[in-house]
Amino acid sequence: MTRSSDNPLRFAAPWIDEEEVEAVVEVLRSGWLTTGPRTVEFERRFGEELGAPAALALSSGTAALHLALIGAGVGADDVVITTPLTFCSTVHVIEHLRARPVLVDVDPDSLNLSPAALAAAIDRLDRPPAAIVPVHLAGRPVDLAGIHALAEPTGAAVIEDAAHAHGATVDGRPVGAPSGSGVRQGACFSFYVTKNITTGEGGMLTGDEDLVEEARRWSLHGMSRDAWKRYGADGSWRYDVTVPGFKYNMSDMQAALGLVQLGRAGQLLERRRRIAEAYDAAFADLPHLRPVSRADAAGHAWHLYLVLVDPEHSPVSRDELIAALTRDGIGTSVHFIPIHELEYYRRRYGFVPGDFPVTATAFERIVSLPIYPRMSDDDVADVIEAVTRAVGAS
Ligand SMILES: Cc1ncc(COP(=O)(O)O)c(C=O)c1O
Repeated sequence: MTRSSDNPLRFAAPWIDEEEVEAVVEVLRSGWLTTGPRTVEFERRFGEELGAPAALALSSGTAALHLALIGAGVGADDVVITTPLTFCSTVHVIEHLRARPVLVDVDPDSLNLSPAALAAAIDRLDRPPAAIVPVHLAGRPVDLAGIHALAEPTGAAVIEDAAHAHGATVDGRPVGAPSGSGVRQGACFSFYVTKNITTGEGGMLTGDEDLVEEARRWSLHGMSRDAWKRYGADGSWRYDVTVPGFKYNMSDMQAALGLVQLGRAGQLLERRRRIAEAYDAAFADLPHLRPVSRADAAGHAWHLYLVLVDPEHSPVSRDELIAALTRDGIGTSVHFIPIHELEYYRRRYGFVPGDFPVTATAFERIVSLPIYPRMSDDDVADVIEAVTRAVGAS
């Protein structure tokens, strides 16, 4: 072991090189720091690489989710379906719109939205859903075809929470590209500092042109298009406001960082894949743990590496495993504390812990191990050694 509690391995860390530093410094020197030419270029390149009809750069993945729902026409009292095994912001944005979140349990194998449970939930609703928000948990793509087949007859838009999924593919198509179905679509990416590519904080919405353009209208105070140019040499002070929009624009400092990261995305993903393969190989014969998906899972973006501790075979619980890894200087996390176990949602909707049995069971067992390109081979070996020892297999 090269790591210890005095020299811990962080759970996650970004990859920032001189090229990123120079790109941001160049923006600082240019004098134009806010939304501007870099943001326009980042949107263009991001959208083009995915083959998306439109792309909108924003201040966070949460902003992308919020505006995607607005772009899809979601409003007060509308039903929006998502899963309880996600980050709180996926559901907060539904609350912001005074719409009604309907949580549907996940599939026990992938921990993504279960199409079978989705079909049953749609049947029980008193009205068709306005939107369905599947989450590509950990970067493992959801069963998009299955979800679109269920969404299409209801008229619901499908807004993918792709916060973990930059680089993921579905049937060879990048997440964020059009699926070819008749469903209205959007995909929401996060560039938070731990994500596959980062802008420090940031997000991107891709999707149908009209949906993204409506989102754009709301993204900068509802000011008329290109109002961000108003302090530039070719800008004008005159603008109009058509909706009471938000302050969700991305800055050129973020976009400059994003452009460099985008250029590295393939290399960064490859390193994540290699680490996943090393974990898979090391844990394949350990009955104590069940990796949520193997490195051969098609199109995985490997944002997170999730394992479930099997209580039938492991002498340690998930919490004990985390404590042992912490003692050995290995950072971990848990994705996620389910929505229905959070105080606000319990109070508002009367949820109890057993409400979503697959999610509730997964939550007791799940742990995320470090997986990020900056990790050295020694770091990966340390994680494997510490995990193997903690479950009593060495
Ligand atoms: C599943 C999921 N959805 C949404 C978000 C929100 O992204 P952001 O932090 O960029 O607002 C996150 C974020 O970190 C996430 O993990």
